[in-house]
Amino acid sequence: QGAKLWGGRFADGPSAALERLSASVHFDFRLAPYDIAGSRAHARALYRAELLTADELDRMIAGLDSLEADVAAGDFTGTIADEDVHTALERGLVERLGAELGGKLRAGRSRNDQIATLFRMYLRDHARIIGGLIADLQDALVGLAESHPDAAMPGRTHLQHAQPVLFAHHMLAHVQSLSRDAERLRQWDARTAVSPYGSGALAGSSLGLDPEAVARDLGFEHGSVGNSIDGTASRDFVAEFAFVTAMIGVNLSRIAEEVIIWNTKEFSFVTLHDAFSTGSSIMPQKKNPDIAELARGKSGRLIGNLTGLMATLKALPLAYNRDLQEDKEPVFDSCDQLEVLLPAFTGMMATLTVHTERMAELAPAGFSLATDIAEWLVRQGVPFRVAHEVAGECVKACEAEGIELHELTDEQFGKISPHLTPEVRGVLDVPGALASRSGRGGTAPSAVAVQLAEVKADLAVQ
Ligand code: ARG
Repeated sequence: QGAKLWGGRFADGPSAALERLSASVHFDFRLAPYDIAGSRAHARALYRAELLTADELDRMIAGLDSLEADVAAGDFTGTIADEDVHTALERGLVERLGAELGGKLRAGRSRNDQIATLFRMYLRDHARIIGGLIADLQDALVGLAESHPDAAMPGRTHLQHAQPVLFAHHMLAHVQSLSRDAERLRQWDARTAVSPYGSGALAGSSLGLDPEAVARDLGFEHGSVGNSIDGTASRDFVAEFAFVTAMIGVNLSRIAEEVIIWNTKEFSFVTLHDAFSTGSSIMPQKKNPDIAELARGKSGRLIGNLTGLMATLKALPLAYNRDLQEDKEPVFDSCDQLEVLLPAFTGMMATLTVHTERMAELAPAGFSLATDIAEWLVRQGVPFRVAHEVAGECVKACEAEGIELHELTDEQFGKISPHLTPEVRGVLDVPGALASRSGRGGTAPSAVAVQLAEVKADLAVQ
């Protein structure tokens, strides 16, 4: 039987079934370093409120330091009888300092304000770790764009050939969505830089403790919460974190899906490095894109973490309810998954071999230059409605003969429309089509070079 943080009013100890249900120590012990940091800040607040003497504070800090070292070395850990990380660490402190001094630290705080604070600290650290891993992936994608500056590929809508684009343009599109993910993490972090410590169970403390000083001590740049009920009961910071990480998973899954398709025999756009692909236990020839598939699969899991958490929070009355203990595992899992996925995913992208000749060969296929005929006609003064029809007639004529647009003869062009003079051939090649889309954000090499420079400048400060 562990030393519970409650029990005075109970004649009987908890049943074994309750203990098993109630325990969170097996997943919340990862918060131990943050709990100890919180305890140090709280001890200083007690000292400033003259509830600890200078000598007691010194001994308290030494006890916490020794406990921290033992936790880090794996020599101190929680057990199921401890219920949770807070109980386990108080036991550790009492073991070191005796019940008299060890028992003084709990004054003026509750597990409700503790957990709300520690959870923010943990997630803020992991937001930074994940942000760094995203930057690594962005570097790999920028590297692919830079090392293939002129490669054309079939740009698709509805997965059908649409218009040729630069491969670099396509890679930078993924970099852009990841930049917004990184920005979301930073904005979330700024919003979460507020400390609930000092909120007590829900109503604040009568002991004259200074929540602002504790917040500063713990590195919360925006001070302490303005409302102790909100401080202990709100978990929108967790839900938002779960959303941002789910969005990262979804963005990865979109890159993953393309890698999987591009890696098929039919596409043959890319070859995966051996070190980042797997084999089959029965089919000796197989080389599978498992990293991309795991990214696709884990994105579903990250979405599940978000929706499960939202369901937990829905209709929960203020202030703290034990339901909130269910808030941790989903986002711990989201962190864990992204922290193993992103390095593998980055390795896969950084070592990808791109078959530019194959992509270039397919870039004009599927009549992907039909829009160029229509826009050329517009430049000759033909209304777009008519130009669209005329270009459509060209496609129809090609389909009937099984040829490509540039294979139509001058006579065939003339018969479709008198506006289609032989000069139209000037736009029927991929480099010309690419170069013509030179406006901001377009696929012309000149425009993509501008995008690349902007993205690199952003990454340098991110
Ligand atoms: N393990 C609890 C949680 O994760 C800590 C707060 C418990 N508070 C309480 N009054 N039982 O939410």
